[in-house]
Amino acid sequence: MTVLAIVGAQWGDEGKGKLVDEVAAHADFVVRYQGGANAGHRVVRDGEEFAFHLTPAGMLNPGVTCIIGNGVVVDPRALLNEMEELRGRGLDVGRLYVSDRAHVVMPYHILLDRLEEDSRGQEAIGATLRGIGPAYVDKFSRSGIRMADLLDVDTLRAKLAVTLAQKNRMITQIYGESPLSLEEIHSEYAGYGQRLRAHITDTQAMLQTAYGEGKRILLEGAQAALLDVDFGTYPYVTSSSTVAGGAATGSGLPPRAIEHVMGVYKAYITRVGSGPMPTELRDETGERIRKAGNEYGTTTGRSRRCGWFDAVAGRYVARINGLDSFAVMKLDVLDEFETVKICTSYRAEGRVFDSMPANLDDMKLCEPVYEEWPGWMTPTSQATSWDELPENARHYLRRIEELLETRLAMVSVGASHGDTIVVSPLPL
Ligand code: GDP
Ligand code: IMO
Ligand code: MG
Repeated sequence: MTVLAIVGAQWGDEGKGKLVDEVAAHADFVVRYQGGANAGHRVVRDGEEFAFHLTPAGMLNPGVTCIIGNGVVVDPRALLNEMEELRGRGLDVGRLYVSDRAHVVMPYHILLDRLEEDSRGQEAIGATLRGIGPAYVDKFSRSGIRMADLLDVDTLRAKLAVTLAQKNRMITQIYGESPLSLEEIHSEYAGYGQRLRAHITDTQAMLQTAYGEGKRILLEGAQAALLDVDFGTYPYVTSSSTVAGGAATGSGLPPRAIEHVMGVYKAYITRVGSGPMPTELRDETGERIRKAGNEYGTTTGRSRRCGWFDAVAGRYVARINGLDSFAVMKLDVLDEFETVKICTSYRAEGRVFDSMPANLDDMKLCEPVYEEWPGWMTPTSQATSWDELPENARHYLRRIEELLETRLAMVSVGASHGDTIVVSPLPL
């Protein structure tokens, strides 16, 4: 096993950061392949907390080379701040590289993200306002600025002049806001290029060489399948390919190099931002889960919407990703619930769905059909093996495994590094 992808399998915030940090102990490279600073991956080590937004969560492992792949949209200001913080906490950021092909999140992307969200009114997506959507729009409309462009002041000026003229027409004529200054942006971003010069490189070639040498490579997904631009609850999604398919195009590794895809689920489900969520609990139970799981955003601090485990969405995601295995995180959060529920199908006006409908209107009408399981009412955080988990927790997990039609590999019972039970051997 040399290449493993770890992907979000719900609406994000499943605990990918924690899992990546642990699995990275067995890796040589950890690679982010999509998204941007909209991600917030929290890792807790010896009581110290780290929140990764652009930097791969493998960074705490000193022997690991970390890569921000070509599929990521990079806000250089956010990246430099993050690097500064990590350096201040004693980490060597010299082993962090950014693809020269990665697109840059520019100030007009961040401004337009907000203006577009405001103009959607009631239909707002609830974006993180990190400029992600507008940056991917420019990438696909072929007017983006890439990391390599930051290294050449003349190229940067020429590209920026064309793009900014167009953006300023949008900003002033559509939204009635003040235009942005070419000179200011040029000098600020050329400066970022200088500061990041040693880190910007052909990471695709680096990874291909590493793969050829049999190095162990971990691909770290951000966001999750239900936020995927193709397969998520469109249009309430992010703007990248979050699924395993995106791991190849976003890193430069060939698709067949990825030998194992592991999906990350929570023992329940959460969502931040707008859009349908069939198992959402808008009651006291939802509030109990939010409190027990501390479900507040790592990036924006917003309250996360909470609900029971959705096996309909879960199985759909397992198939889209071709999951070889999966992890269940935050099992401990359900320790004090008398009963726990799993959604096994949706019902909408007399129709029954056992997979996620594409039509948003259908999706909005979907009501969950639940199975109810007895809770375990026992603390799980001290458990270090499958056999030490309470019997009812094991039944609950095995039922999820059956419904997802894929193999349970890991169970997480606490936020701290090491609070993880390996159910089947590590694929890396
Ligand atoms: P990510 O975006 O998928 O990396 O997830 P986040 O970091 O945004 O959110 C997951 C939160 O749950 C973080 O605060 C983690 O520290 C925490 N966490 C991860 N695994 C566990 C677990 O097994 N139990 C508990 N109680 N917390 C966990
Ligand atoms: P991690 O990697 C949870 C959500 C936003 C919004 C939608 C679009 O920590 O799991 P965007 O700013 O991407 O255009 O917002 O996607 N979203 C996330 N939700 N976890 C994330 O990342 C998210 N990144 C974006 O809340 O609904
Ligand atoms: Mg997160």
